[in-house]
Amino acid sequence: MSSLVSGRGNWGSRIGFILAAAGSAIGLGNIWRFPTTVGRSGGAAFVLIYTGFVLLLGLPVMLAELAVGRRTEKNPVGAFKALVPHTAWKYLGGLGVVTGVAILSYYSVIAGWTVGYIVKIAAGEFTNLASHNVVADAFTELIANPTSALGLHALFMALTMLVVLGGVRGGIERWSKILMPILLGILLLLVFRSVTLPGADVGLRFYLQPDFSKVTEATFVSALGQAFFSLSLGMGAMMTYGSYLAKESDLFTCGVWVLVADTAIAILAGFAIFPALFTIPGLEPTEGPGLIFLVLPNIFDKIPGGIFFGTGFFVLLGIAALTSAISLLEVPVAYFIDERGWTRRKAVVVAGLLAFLLGVPSALGNGAVGWLSAIPVIGKSFLDVMDTLFSNVALSFGALLLSIFVGWKWGVADALKEIRFRRATSFAEKSWGFLIRYVCPVAIAIVLANVIRDLLVG
Ligand code: PHE
Repeated sequence: MSSLVSGRGNWGSRIGFILAAAGSAIGLGNIWRFPTTVGRSGGAAFVLIYTGFVLLLGLPVMLAELAVGRRTEKNPVGAFKALVPHTAWKYLGGLGVVTGVAILSYYSVIAGWTVGYIVKIAAGEFTNLASHNVVADAFTELIANPTSALGLHALFMALTMLVVLGGVRGGIERWSKILMPILLGILLLLVFRSVTLPGADVGLRFYLQPDFSKVTEATFVSALGQAFFSLSLGMGAMMTYGSYLAKESDLFTCGVWVLVADTAIAILAGFAIFPALFTIPGLEPTEGPGLIFLVLPNIFDKIPGGIFFGTGFFVLLGIAALTSAISLLEVPVAYFIDERGWTRRKAVVVAGLLAFLLGVPSALGNGAVGWLSAIPVIGKSFLDVMDTLFSNVALSFGALLLSIFVGWKWGVADALKEIRFRRATSFAEKSWGFLIRYVCPVAIAIVLANVIRDLLVG
C-alpha cells in the first residue's frame, strides 16, 4: 500500500527529502554540541576520531535506518513489528520513542537560549564590547533567570509542536528548503572573521594538530555519541523520515548527501569557534554547553554589520534547531498515530507536553536551582546528565542493536534490495554488508563496554 493511500503523507521529491533529512541532521548538534564536545575532549584528536566514526559507522547505520523505514513505511515500533512480528525487537523501537522525547526535552532548552540571543543581539547588547564579561554576564542572566529559561523553553517547544501539527509536507519540508543555504553563508562569514583574528593560530592548532596524549576512553564515547547525535541516528528519526520517502529514490545517494552536508557544517562551526575562543581572555575550551554563546557575540562584534549578521545567524540557528526538533518529536508522534490510533493533534499535544515537562529541570539547572545545576555526588548539571545518558549512551545503544538487527536478523540481502546502490558494484554492497554485520556492532559494543565499566568502577 502506498503511503499516500494510507494517509501518512509523503515527500514531494527526492531533493525535498534530502533537504528535510539534512534539516533533521543539521541543527544544534553541529553548531552547539560539536564545538562544545571538541573543546571538552581536547581538540584535533577528537575531530579525527569523530570523522572516522561518521564514515565507518555513521554511514552504514544511516543506510540501515533509511532501509528499515522505507521498507515498512512505519514508525520505529511498527517497523520492527512489521518485519519480525511477535518478537522483542519492537522494544528497540520503543527505546527510540523514549529517547526522542528525552533528547527533545533539553534540546528545546538550548534552542530557547538561541531564541533569547536573537533579541539580545538585535537590541545591540553585544556591540562595542568593552570586555568579554559583558557577554558572560548577559548569558548567565539569560540562562539562570527561571522566567526567561522556562519561557524560552516553552516558546520553542510550542513552535515545534505547531510545525509537527501541520504534518509532513505542510510543515517539515517547506522550512528546510530555503533557509539552510543562508545559514551556511553566514557561517562562512564567521569562519573568515575568526581565522583572520590576530592570534587565531593558537585555536587553529588546538583544532587541527592532534595531541593523542589527550585521548582517553571517554574521547571515544563522546565521539561516537556525537556522530550519532549529529546524524540523527540511533533512535529512529531517520527511520521515520525514510518511511515517508518515495520508493524510487536511491537511499545511498540520499544518505551520502545528508552525511556530507552535516559533517561539513560541523567542521565549519569548529573553524568559527576555536580560533576566536583562544583570543578571549578568561575563556577555556572546556567551558561546556555555554561555549558558543560566549564566543559568537565576540566575533560578530568584530564584523561590520555584526548586529545584522548576528541576528540573522541566531534566527537561522533557531530554525535549524526547529527542523531537528520536529524530527525528534515526529518519532513519538508517528508512534502514537500508527500504533495507538491517536489523532495527530492528540499525539503532538501529549508528546510535546511530556518533553516540555521533562525539560523543566534542564531549564532550571543552569543557575536557577542549585542542586539541579550541580547534582550532589555527580557534580554535573541535570542537562549535562541527560545529554550524556541519552545522546551518548542511548543513541549508541540504539545504533548497536539496529546494526545487529539489520545485519543478522532482517538480513543484509533484504536490506540491500531496499538500499539499491545506484550503479551498484558488488564491492559497495559487500562493504556495506561487512560494516553493518561486523564493524558496527563490534566497534560500538567495545565503546559501550567501556562506559559500563567506568560506571561500575566509578
Ligand atoms: N541531529 C540533530 C542535530 O544535530 C539532533 C537530533 C538527534 C535529531 C537525534 C534527531 C535525532 O541537532
